[in-house]
Amino acid sequence: MWFWIGKERVDRAKKYIESNMEKLEIVRHILRDVGHGRFVSDAGGFAWAPSNVALCKYWGKRDAELNLPVTSSLSVSLGNKGASALIRHINGGYCVTKRVHHLCENGAPLNGGDNYTVNGEVVGRATKFAERLKKFLDLFRPTGVDYSVEIITNVPIAAGFASSACGFASMVQALNQLYGWRLHKSDLSILARLGSGSACRSIFEGFVEWQRGEQADGMDSHGIALAYIWPELRLGMLAISNQEKSVSSRDAMQHTIDTSSLYMDWPIRVEQDLSDIKTALANKDFMLLGRVAENNAIAMHAAMESAIPPIIYSLPETFAMIEKVQQLRLAGVPVFFTQDAGPNLQLLFLSADEPMVVSAFPGLEVVSPFIDNRVEQVVLVDSNDAEIGTGEKLSVHIQGKLHRAFSVVILREKNGEVEMLLHQRASSKYHSANLWSNTCCGHPRPGEDLMVAAKRRLREEMGFGVELKKVGTFQYNTRSLDTGLSENELDHVLVGYSDLEDFSFDPSEVQNYCWVEIGQLRQDIQDNPHRYTVWLPLVMNSFCERSGLIE
Ligand code: PMV
Repeated sequence: MWFWIGKERVDRAKKYIESNMEKLEIVRHILRDVGHGRFVSDAGGFAWAPSNVALCKYWGKRDAELNLPVTSSLSVSLGNKGASALIRHINGGYCVTKRVHHLCENGAPLNGGDNYTVNGEVVGRATKFAERLKKFLDLFRPTGVDYSVEIITNVPIAAGFASSACGFASMVQALNQLYGWRLHKSDLSILARLGSGSACRSIFEGFVEWQRGEQADGMDSHGIALAYIWPELRLGMLAISNQEKSVSSRDAMQHTIDTSSLYMDWPIRVEQDLSDIKTALANKDFMLLGRVAENNAIAMHAAMESAIPPIIYSLPETFAMIEKVQQLRLAGVPVFFTQDAGPNLQLLFLSADEPMVVSAFPGLEVVSPFIDNRVEQVVLVDSNDAEIGTGEKLSVHIQGKLHRAFSVVILREKNGEVEMLLHQRASSKYHSANLWSNTCCGHPRPGEDLMVAAKRRLREEMGFGVELKKVGTFQYNTRSLDTGLSENELDHVLVGYSDLEDFSFDPSEVQNYCWVEIGQLRQDIQDNPHRYTVWLPLVMNSFCERSGLIE
């Protein structure tokens, strides 16, 4: 392992940076066997990647061209916070399909007319952001090709919530799909690193280590998924300012290396922090994890604040919030913070303390890295429910592909009337948030039996299990104007009976529940359709017809 322990080592590192291995050579090397450009998907390439927060930070490059880090780092992905990218070929408005292309000699486009949108807004070609995207896409651009890139993200851009990490990771995976490369994740991670260092960790989910590697070409410097799972872990996104940061992390890192005397100690410290964090993960020792992650962030900011002139990302509100975290901890609530290159904080705590933390920080956005997972796979079917493939859940809903789903209806008889158990969808759901619907809905995973999946979701969402019976199937296809997502589902309706009054439901899925008499429900759906999901009336028809509950 190579440590920096003195000024001469810093000089040596600068020389390393100047040796400048070209990014394009790395791309060519990775794509050498995949026939780059021979296959171009008509549907474009689509991928989603999570954002990530480093618990042990990456700060400092040993090669500024290839984004090779001085040290290894370790992060956790941010559940359903991230970005999706849809990348297509556009040339004069038509899609270039299945033609043979070759990389340009210098990686530059012939006509340079890409179109970029972020959350539906067109990104001006003259902006720094567009220039950065274009420079990255030039690495992969077959001769004469322009790209259309549509990015949708739920993290603020360039404000220290790792938007570039999920942005570049989703783009690399979308290109992998567009061109049918079928690359190994470690290669995708290397390609994402060429866009932004921390993006190499966003190719994976959960805890991820970016191993610094030893090779000058960086072929051993990529993320690896760590086999630790911690479902109780929570992260709170404490937004202090969404303003774009004044100094990029690239410039700030270099300036810290060049002028901060404290940087000398950073690699030694990281070595110890990484080892302590892994011990904490293996033993689920939250106090150790929180203490080391918090101190690591403080040390990174101390190093840049001691640069000449100093780089200070924190705002007065940042310090006020840090003080509040410490007060809460003194009051006995185990909560810690970490901070990237921006004024915002990420709080670390466990699910049991979530109510206390949220009441101390009203409006805190809470992420469950091991629960809020959007990259679940669903089963694609034809209209006879025959399986024709699988697809990533969000992409299937964006592209409107027909897939298998189920709706569970739990009934009871009370005072001679039949009642249905309804649930109100959580406010954080990716579609139909806050609306009332049947007891539980979901999608079987590839290879998972319909009944098993329905019972699993009923337990996960509503906290109980009963026998279920299939009573019908219907197909429906609607597109939400709010989210642009389509529900094109072959929906199996499963009915069960229960007398339970109280349910320990999962608050990240469900915010409320109630029993309603069937006739009353049908009337209210007619009077107030905006309160209910679009599929609820169809579910009602399906099971009411079968069970003779329709007059
Ligand atoms: O990947 P970059 O160049 O945006 O650098 C990210 C640096 C930090 O977010 C501050 C730390 C990290 O490891 O994510």
